[in-house]
Amino acid sequence: MSRGLFITFEGIDGAGKSTHIDGLAQALRATGRVVTLTREPGGTPLAEKLRDLVLNDAMDPMTEALLVFAARRNHLQQLIEPALARGELVLCDRFSDATFAYQGGGRGFDLQVLNQLEHWVQARPGGLLQPDLTIWFDLDPQIAAQRLSGVRVPDKFEAQPVDFFRRVAEGYAQRQLLQPGRFARIQADQPREAVWRDVLAAVKHRGFLP
Ligand code: TYD
Repeated sequence: MSRGLFITFEGIDGAGKSTHIDGLAQALRATGRVVTLTREPGGTPLAEKLRDLVLNDAMDPMTEALLVFAARRNHLQQLIEPALARGELVLCDRFSDATFAYQGGGRGFDLQVLNQLEHWVQARPGGLLQPDLTIWFDLDPQIAAQRLSGVRVPDKFEAQPVDFFRRVAEGYAQRQLLQPGRFARIQADQPREAVWRDVLAAVKHRGFLP
């Protein structure tokens, strides 16, 4: 049985990943594959409850980290791994890189502890369960802030100052340095069509789309 494919989408708030996730899901479905579209924190009834807490309630960085990994544990167990075992494609809006970027980079929480939590939640007999491909929408935090301003009522993270997002962006850059093969870095300051072209190119380059 062929194992499925796990693709994640990452970037700071305002980097513009959402439309491209839907577009890629459509493009992959058009090839006849079964595609599950999901998100973190969230993706299961329990994890969506945890998402609501993480995005709206004030808490210290360790509590935040524990809650996002608790949500991830449930999401992997209930949704992601069963879908992959059936040979399906799972597209996930954010995953563990977001924890390293937001809680690690943004909040300054201990990366060693995050590594340990990642190990607890993602260790499998063959090694750490990681995405097959992570599409990283890289955008200057100043531009992202302009894009976000006035669009809607900001959640707890979206309301953070630009400096927070500089640290988040640096957190993503560090993750990419550690696992370069898994990342496709997309320059998200381009017009939407150019960003989409680059997303498609990254997926095709890895042979995930004809
Ligand atoms: P986001 O993915 O931007 O969804 P929406 O488009 O609906 O706003 O929101 C999720 C937020 O949660 C985002 O600000 C990043 C944050 N987050 C963490 O802080 N840690 C995590 O581990 C994850 C998955 C997300």
